[in-house]
Amino acid sequence: MRSLIDILDFSTSEVDELIASANDIIDNPAKYAEKCKGKKLATLFFEPSTRTRLSFEAAMLELGGSVLGFSEANSSSAAKGESVSDTAKTISCYADIIAMRHPKEGAPLVAAQAASIPVINAGDGGHNHPTQTLTDLLTISREKGGFENLTVGFCGDLKFGRTVHSLITALSRYKGIKIVLISPEELKLPSYIKKDVLAKNNIPYEQTTDLESVMPELDILYMTRVQRERFFNEEDYLRLKDSYILEPRKLTNAKSDLCIMHPLPRVNEISLAVDDDPRACYFKQVLYGKYIRMALILKLLEEAQK
Ligand code: NCD
Repeated sequence: MRSLIDILDFSTSEVDELIASANDIIDNPAKYAEKCKGKKLATLFFEPSTRTRLSFEAAMLELGGSVLGFSEANSSSAAKGESVSDTAKTISCYADIIAMRHPKEGAPLVAAQAASIPVINAGDGGHNHPTQTLTDLLTISREKGGFENLTVGFCGDLKFGRTVHSLITALSRYKGIKIVLISPEELKLPSYIKKDVLAKNNIPYEQTTDLESVMPELDILYMTRVQRERFFNEEDYLRLKDSYILEPRKLTNAKSDLCIMHPLPRVNEISLAVDDDPRACYFKQVLYGKYIRMALILKLLEEAQK
């Protein structure tokens, strides 16, 4: 059974096909309105979410299917001690496809091994978030026309930010990519990603604490929130939370076609005044998230029928 746990579960040509399918859905929504009639998506969210869960649900509804699920661990039998495997086996009796978010790294993989229907990782702890990456790739392809020869800056919490980990992994498969890592010392990209992804694929990268000094180089600036829920103590979070605040004056030396992205939610890291800058892409990103999830649901349900 085909699932999506890690972005590398899909080849680059499959990613291209998903992007083409999302673009076709954007252009011809009526053609897709009944594609999933009679099918059910279960959203199993053991961690908070606004965009990911609701974009999955909107995606399935726009495909003519229906949705069931829960949005808090406390309202499921996990609160009684049920294992992820047993939950996945149970949901396989009620639904056709699962989207799961869980605070424990690897939980969606465990679910996929137990389920008899496709499982989509909708974020596992500080590890991966492959559907945000598909959203980000659709955004980049629409804004930049492709993925080659881009200098991409990642700014903020690169240690715990799962969207950063998955997007860097995805971008490492394209030619001419350069990565700029901008974070406080304490929130640097984990060394396993530098070694297994960046070094292994010969991707040039630089690390800095200074956003403004690298701004002129960037084609894409990917801002992130400091991941409060992954900190061991509140003091460290309070000290680091406002490390970077993007304001209009910091963009004076930026490229005129810079694409500013953020997976959202934003806390303080982009000032509201930036929202009116034509280079701000983060609300477009939100909308693209629904379309790429429609393409993903269609693909996995088609493969499940084979
Ligand atoms: C991200 C996440 O959950 O990892 N949000 C999202 O899915 N769009 C980013 C975050 O929570 O900071």
